[in-house]
Amino acid sequence: MKTILLAAGTALACFLLSPAMAQPAPAAAQACDGCHGGGDAPRLNGQKAGYIRERLKYFTGVAGRGRQATIDMAAALAALDDAGRRDLARHYESLPPTEPKPGPLAAQGERIYTKGIQTRKVLACTLCHGARAEGHDDTPRLAGQHGDYLKRQMLLFGLNWRGNDVMHHNTQDLTGAQIDALVSYLAND
Ligand code: HEC
Ligand code: HEC
Repeated sequence: MKTILLAAGTALACFLLSPAMAQPAPAAAQACDGCHGGGDAPRLNGQKAGYIRERLKYFTGVAGRGRQATIDMAAALAALDDAGRRDLARHYESLPPTEPKPGPLAAQGERIYTKGIQTRKVLACTLCHGARAEGHDDTPRLAGQHGDYLKRQMLLFGLNWRGNDVMHHNTQDLTGAQIDALVSYLAND
């Protein structure tokens, strides 16, 4: 059923997007969609290709910062070379993105997202992630991502367990309530 929905989604994407942008699903995507088709793994549909490529390099250790996958994607990733990573990244970017489903704290979350928190030197997220959290190049789309995943990443950045100086700076002073508000604004489930 998932495969059918996915195939339908791919077909729709190919139909909606210009021929130059439409990307047929590479065979390798089957291994990914077992986990990324739903549930806990982050959504990749509509995610920025530049960001996906960076993350895949990071997970496989090619990026030089060491392997840091929190789960074992090793089998699926080991077989990929640079062209394989590029094709997968383009494929996922070309799939229609999931839109956010605002929760009860969305208004507060939107304020933090668009203005930051000046007293805590938290930058406005719009500066990098875009006015509607659509992402840009190697800065990820956040809109419509799973809430549990977004929350976990913000906590991991805050603790510096997921290493990224910029995001560490923006999350280390956020309270749990502020993170929940951001998730309420950005996430879909
Ligand atoms: C065994 C399940 C599993 C398989 C197979 C798998 N993934 Fe993942 N993937 C995950 C989980 C879980 C995470 C989140 C890791 C975390 O919490 O840090 C993830 C994270 C990612 C991310 C980072 C997303 C983000 O928003 O930062 C990318 C990109 C990704 N996977 C791509 C792939 C690709 C491409 C494949 C196939 C070649 C693949 N994955 C195969 C489970 C899987
Ligand atoms: C100066 C630029 C910048 C600002 C401002 C910024 N971010 Fe980020 N953010 C990034 C970059 C770059 C990454 C990718 C980091 C990486 O590859 O590990 C990222 C990653 C993330 C991720 C992980 C997404 C995923 O799919 O794994 C989340 C969640 C996030 N940012 C939330 C926020 C929120 C919420 C704010 C505002 C409070 C914010 N960011 C402000 C640049 C920024």
